[in-house]
Amino acid sequence: MLLEYNNPTIVESYLNNWKRLWHPIAVASMITADENEKLRPIERQVVGESLAFTRVGDSFFALNNHCRHRGAKLSQGWFNVEGSTFVCPYHGFEWALNGKLAKIPAYDVSGFACPNSKKWQTESYQVIERYGILWTCLIDEPLLPLPEIPPLNDPSLVGGVFVETLFHTGGGRVVEGTLDTYHIAFAHRGTIGDPSEPEAPQAKVEQEQFLYMEFEMDQNQNPSAKGSNDSQERVRVLYQQWASPNVVFLLKTSPGIRYGLLFLYRVVSPNETVVYRRIFRDANASEPEDESVALENHIDHEDKLIIEEIIPRIIPTDTNFEVHTVFDKPTFSYRQYMKSLGFEYF
Ligand code: FES
Ligand SMILES: [Fe+2]
Repeated sequence: MLLEYNNPTIVESYLNNWKRLWHPIAVASMITADENEKLRPIERQVVGESLAFTRVGDSFFALNNHCRHRGAKLSQGWFNVEGSTFVCPYHGFEWALNGKLAKIPAYDVSGFACPNSKKWQTESYQVIERYGILWTCLIDEPLLPLPEIPPLNDPSLVGGVFVETLFHTGGGRVVEGTLDTYHIAFAHRGTIGDPSEPEAPQAKVEQEQFLYMEFEMDQNQNPSAKGSNDSQERVRVLYQQWASPNVVFLLKTSPGIRYGLLFLYRVVSPNETVVYRRIFRDANASEPEDESVALENHIDHEDKLIIEEIIPRIIPTDTNFEVHTVFDKPTFSYRQYMKSLGFEYF
């Protein structure tokens, strides 16, 4: 059975369900404000909608990108710092930060009053900052808060640069690619895996408001140095994963060394998902950060090659879809979790 990702009913269900969550739109430190300039708002696609957002002082504001008048993009206009308005580039309508129409320049000079009824108002969206990232939600009351991830509160675990990657597939396939602890030996045979060692872990999974998973494995002290020294010491490594529908934090703890990976997913459409990835390491980590980033980029590329070709791109939460082994507990549990949150397709 192949489900078409362009089936309108499935697409609608997918978008309507993902719309209920926070989605990451930018690395906060990249969005700087120069109060002396007329700033061009930034455009982002979030769950089928186009948004224009900007920074005002320490706050961020987002509006529906398409002007209510004739649909031009506010992100092609500019931000009027004096009036705190988004200026549409087509006929110059000015939109306040709360979505109200603030000014129609041609009305002003002709002596007409600026209309202020509901019909002349555009959608505004809340923007918050969390984990160094800006988030927005298309509805006023998101289904879930962003998860509390205890290791991220530990100042001795230090975050590096964010790397942003676009995957041409649905959100669920990309998140499952992270949660899937079973594919390492084969999909990552060019980096950290080895098909001649196909052992897979059996994770313990707990589901409350979010998911928590853990498992242990015996591994070489330095698995990234695959094949470099077969006799290197084997150590017990603890893997922990915290997950919401579109946030995953993976923490690997071996004696004296912690290594974390934070993945944040923006669902754009049924076949586009943007991932923000950040590596976390001990403050005293000796390996240069560049090397870890290069390895993770390579690993992501291996995932991307496979995941982008999987069909259907949207996953039904019906557990009769596809077949499941005992090693699929993380992804199987994620499907059940999504179902418990009301998703039919994700
Ligand atoms: S389309 Fe925006 S002012 Fe006309
Ligand atoms: Fe992978």
